[in-house]
Amino acid sequence: MPKSVERVRADIPFLRTGVIYLDNAATTPTPKPVLDAMLEYYQEYSANIGRGLYRAAKRATEAFEATRVKIARVIGAKPEDIAYTKNTTEAINIVARGLGLKKGDKVISTVLEHHSNLLPWQRLESERGVKLELVGASKECLLDPADFERAIDKKTRLIAVHHVSNSVGSIQPVEEIGKLAQDHKILYLVDAAQSVGHMPVDVRRLKCDFLVAPGHKGLLGPQGTGFLYAAQGRLSGLEPLTVGGGIVEEVKLHRSKLVGPPQVFDVGTPNIPGVIGLGRACEYVLEIGVEKIAKRERKLLEQMLEIADIAGVKVYGPSEAVQHGGVLSFNIRGLDHHKVASMLDEIAKIAVRSGHHCAQPTMNHLGVEGTVRASVHYYNTESEIEKFVTSVGEIAQEMCS
Ligand code: ALA
Repeated sequence: MPKSVERVRADIPFLRTGVIYLDNAATTPTPKPVLDAMLEYYQEYSANIGRGLYRAAKRATEAFEATRVKIARVIGAKPEDIAYTKNTTEAINIVARGLGLKKGDKVISTVLEHHSNLLPWQRLESERGVKLELVGASKECLLDPADFERAIDKKTRLIAVHHVSNSVGSIQPVEEIGKLAQDHKILYLVDAAQSVGHMPVDVRRLKCDFLVAPGHKGLLGPQGTGFLYAAQGRLSGLEPLTVGGGIVEEVKLHRSKLVGPPQVFDVGTPNIPGVIGLGRACEYVLEIGVEKIAKRERKLLEQMLEIADIAGVKVYGPSEAVQHGGVLSFNIRGLDHHKVASMLDEIAKIAVRSGHHCAQPTMNHLGVEGTVRASVHYYNTESEIEKFVTSVGEIAQEMCS
């Protein structure tokens, strides 16, 4: 059955609380079929993976492994190139720690990254003497591939860039940057935390070596899940961050042989229900249709952009909706961003995030301490956005008149 907005809304129990949930960039509410898949695991085959030979254990292992196929389908990859992680942050850390970058090597990133795509590279800089160069951005928080071209030199080993800004919603020219990386034979990591599930993302088009994303944002999966895609067997070049049980072929007293990727990243008892839930979430998003989600989010974003015409409201990020994902950041003159967020909750039960959004350098770039951020997903409605626009207008009028 086609998944209309109404149908998806009916599937999301959290929405029955009456919340107008516009904090999808932080995490998304979980649809019932995803909850059911996790409950089914707990109630019907709640066994560990990769160990037991009884029926429930085999079923758990199969369901756990099947999620790789489902993630691969969403991003145009091969299942064996997908490692499960607990979130995007962990996936970036695996790449940063595992590549063996050394003193003198250079990593290029940008001034607009989420802290999770900055701190792992800063650590390489302070601990190993890797040079980190951060390219700038336009006032509208857009990146220019020419700046990357200028920054690339013989020492450059990796470019790490976000696809969609989590704090202001700008959609970056990741394909063009990928082409540059490929031409210069430089590794390329795309932080797709705010794009996977929200818009078509195909690793073949991006020409990326690594793509990282969470399960609990665009994909509508559970928290505590994420993945790392690595092209052409590159997972085998990465050391897992943690070693121990569940990932060994043979263990002697002073040395051990680990299994190969991607299972080598599933150390200990992994998040089995979460990964199974993520698999169902991938199917669910594909059932809606990613193109359809992107089209709808664009429409909702255009409607949200109406707040730019309200006196006293300043909107950040690209003015062109086509360069703007479903994340809108703004401030109301003379009002603290946290105060605005609290008022939206109090007067209209609207949930938004306020603050620096784990992107303090982006806030510095904008010359503000923080913003109010509203972010949509497919299931949000025009009437919710209307309520949001009206409420922002009321707050601005009350406070700025
Ligand atoms: N990374 C999430 C956000 O941007 C938590 O809100």
